Amino acid sequence: MSERTQPVSNRLVVVGQGYVGLPLAVRAVEQGFDVIGLDLDEERITRIGAGDSPVEDITHARLQAALATGRYRPTTDAGDGAGFAIAVISVPTPLREGAPDLSFIETAARSLGAHLTAGACVILESTTYPGTTQELVGPLLEAASGLTVGTDFALGYSPERIDPGNPTWRFENTPKVVSGVDDNSLRVVQGFYDQIVERTVAVSSPKEAELTKLLENTFRHVNIALVNELAVFAHALGIDIWEAIDAASTKPFGYLRFTPGPGVGGHCLPIDPSYLSWRVRQSLGETFRFVELANDVNDHMPGYVVARLVEGLNERSLAVKGRRILLLGLAYKRNTGDARESPSRPIARRLIELGADVVAADPHVADALVPPGVTKVELSEDELRRADAVVMLVDHDDFDTDLVAASSAYVLDTRHCLDGPTVEYL
Ligand SMILES: NC(=O)c1ccc[n+]([C@@H]2O[C@H](COP(=O)([O-])OP(=O)(O)OC[C@H]3O[C@@H](n4cnc5c(N)ncnc54)[C@H](O)[C@@H]3O)[C@@H](O)[C@H]2O)c1
Repeated sequence: MSERTQPVSNRLVVVGQGYVGLPLAVRAVEQGFDVIGLDLDEERITRIGAGDSPVEDITHARLQAALATGRYRPTTDAGDGAGFAIAVISVPTPLREGAPDLSFIETAARSLGAHLTAGACVILESTTYPGTTQELVGPLLEAASGLTVGTDFALGYSPERIDPGNPTWRFENTPKVVSGVDDNSLRVVQGFYDQIVERTVAVSSPKEAELTKLLENTFRHVNIALVNELAVFAHALGIDIWEAIDAASTKPFGYLRFTPGPGVGGHCLPIDPSYLSWRVRQSLGETFRFVELANDVNDHMPGYVVARLVEGLNERSLAVKGRRILLLGLAYKRNTGDARESPSRPIARRLIELGADVVAADPHVADALVPPGVTKVELSEDELRRADAVVMLVDHDDFDTDLVAASSAYVLDTRHCLDGPTVEYL
């Protein structure tokens, strides 16, 4: 791309105003950009436009301040982004029947392409398999705009590392990996994020950046599976896995702490590693055995939690059928209301199939996301005493752990956050 095609304005379009796109849009407004927040979901855009943040990491006050600058415009109309200098795509990348579903990226690229002008830059942030930026997004933008990637517009990939609910590592102080399809694209992409986050880390092409994200998530997925499988065996052998993990964590090198749990959830771990294994299978005809094994182990954890609960009730001469079971936490992890792919869902479903009366408390999760057949309740001493068994699934900070331990007849604690005579650990 020649000098004349360098971005000349600070007009930014962020496509997708979800967990990833909204924090980026708000941060960019705070850093002086003119931002169009584009989303197809009208209800979401209306809500955002009214200053009601649907994402916990962005407070209502912060969103309202961004709107008050007059430089943040949430919209459903792709035409509002015409003439953008930079566009970032942060739309979902789900799996459909085990295969990557890139239709959201395709739609976003086509609609951006229609408004792409020479000198602009497009950056993909959605998690995806290596090759997507160059093999899919570039050609779609070229076809829709009639422009040539590299010559007329810049293109890059920068994975998102947002960790919802993490107060220490926030969007702006987490290093951001950046890449471009050529040297100039990299310069533009890095120049943009240098204004947004404290530190950027350049890699040589989008494929390395795409793989970086999948490596990070596959690493977590595999290590969580390792401790999950170990937890199952340690329990059967009568060994305290939690004490062993604490002891191993005192090793100052060569060990990283991961803890067991009821399974994995969210938009990342149950999905991203499968993007990588799909790519390996499709391109090389090989099986990515670590991913397959980790999927298998982690997928079995909700069933294992139910089996342990049934065992615990049995020891108390109780059948699960007809019992009132209180689930604490429906989100996929602590301090978030994100319940996508949450293990609470298969656990609730199985308990209902077994005839249990399932109630659940989670102050973060919206009522619409409560699993079918489950009644949402407030965590209280009365609810704890009414339950025949309590299952601690998510260690949200605002759960009163002392109250739970003191008032429950029997608790299965999958997070090792409770202490008391009626508490059993995973
Ligand atoms: N949530 C996380 O913690 C996280 C972390 C890192 C990476 N990611 C990745 O980032 C991407 C986005 O995830 P998310 O959690 O923000 O998803 P999300 O569902 O919260 O938000 C995506 C938004 O995009 C909108 N959308 C879909 N197609 C669109 C289109 N063509 N034009 C405009 N808007 C469109 C949807 O309506 C939705 O509001 C995914 O690839 C995900 O894997 C997510």
